[in-house]
Amino acid sequence: MSGAVQDVGDRCYDAAGGVNVGRRDFLMRAAGVGAFAYASFRDDAIARVLAADRSAGGKSATELAHNERYWGQIQRAFAVDRSVINLNNGGVNPASRVVMDAMRRHLEFTNQIPARNLWKIQDKQVETVRQRLARVFGCDPEEMAITRNASEAMEIALYGLDLERGDEVLTTDQDYPRMINTLKQRELRDGIVLKTFPFVNPPPSLGYLVDRFVEHITPRTKAVLMSHITTYTGQVFPVREICHAARERGITAIVDGAHAFGQIVFDGGAIGCDFYGTSLHKWLHAPIGTGFLHVRRDRIADHWPLMAAAEPKKNDIRKFEEIGTHPAANRLAVAEALTFYEGIGPARHEARLRHLRDRFAERLAASDRVRLYTSLAPEQSCALATLGIDGVDPADLAEYLWRKHRVLVTTIKHERVEGIRVSPNVYTTPTEIDVFCDAVERVMEHGLPS
Ligand SMILES: Cc1ncc(COP(=O)(O)O)c(C=O)c1O
Repeated sequence: MSGAVQDVGDRCYDAAGGVNVGRRDFLMRAAGVGAFAYASFRDDAIARVLAADRSAGGKSATELAHNERYWGQIQRAFAVDRSVINLNNGGVNPASRVVMDAMRRHLEFTNQIPARNLWKIQDKQVETVRQRLARVFGCDPEEMAITRNASEAMEIALYGLDLERGDEVLTTDQDYPRMINTLKQRELRDGIVLKTFPFVNPPPSLGYLVDRFVEHITPRTKAVLMSHITTYTGQVFPVREICHAARERGITAIVDGAHAFGQIVFDGGAIGCDFYGTSLHKWLHAPIGTGFLHVRRDRIADHWPLMAAAEPKKNDIRKFEEIGTHPAANRLAVAEALTFYEGIGPARHEARLRHLRDRFAERLAASDRVRLYTSLAPEQSCALATLGIDGVDPADLAEYLWRKHRVLVTTIKHERVEGIRVSPNVYTTPTEIDVFCDAVERVMEHGLPS
């Protein structure tokens, strides 16, 4: 994210005026509440964040990561089913109550007279969301297309490039399968060449990942694709360095940021990529079916949209959004998700995610039967960790955890990674993590019941 919101006590940008305001003022303005109205907002997620903020004192993000009083308020801002323990937040996240309420409100309004309310009123309001997303990511609003998810964003990036027969696109063999399939389809249709390379989990350093990319670049490489955070192990890639190495060789740099936006704090503008796609229903807690594609300004005109536009080579970012009639409610409620996220503060949000992840990863990794595929070094990972247990099939373990304990994790089976991927979120309680750890330790002691 842009350096705008960095740490406890830092200031937040006011979307309307563009001035810096305190986090509490920001929340009050965003919710449009004065003291009286605030009292009647008690169950609202924004009010929860305000209450939490009062208990935060002047603590740093890392100190606050342990403060259960603060995070208890945040947990209650989500109406999730506590009879199950959801440790698969890497797939898709629940939205907070305030986001769900906003989405319902917007949908009701659309439904009153759709042809007018959707096209004449709500579509115009999406421009505010574009501005706010651009501000948090760190780019110009005219470089920000709102999409339905990271997949759509990345397909626009990958299919819209002019490539000739024999041109190479380089990526890792742990990039997201859909993006790899997209490039395989271009191999079949256009005769391009997809080049992938492996890397070890966890990598010895971030520099190793830069070197792996650079050593596979050839004179025919026209584009590189990298995940900012990988799907299999939650590995953070040094995207800035890789994009720099690519662009100084005249190679297009494309970043799949599906997991990064809302999980870790970064300045999107400083990455220096040509394209950056993400989902907002993963770590931003936005409604399901939201994402964005950032396109560097000087790449917009030449890039083909996925669905034909009247002027495909127009220099207008909105040409990538011409997908026919689709709901505005999801997109508009992204504004509430941003307010909620900025209200907590991106640095606090990131520190809490890492704290919760460390709680299970450090405990379970103490056993020499556990193999951690994810480095716990803060620069290499955040909310996710993937671990394998010697002698235990990960799919059987995941199935057992769900059937017996109602704990949801993801099974990862890749040539180089076999384990369960565990991803808590800010609404997860430490007790829920402990229940999961107890269950795994019992399996290590007694094996899986047959
Ligand atoms: C690295 C990566 N890219 C893209 C995606 C696709 O995200 P979505 O299904 O929200 O489009 C995922 C989903 O997990 C992912 O992990």
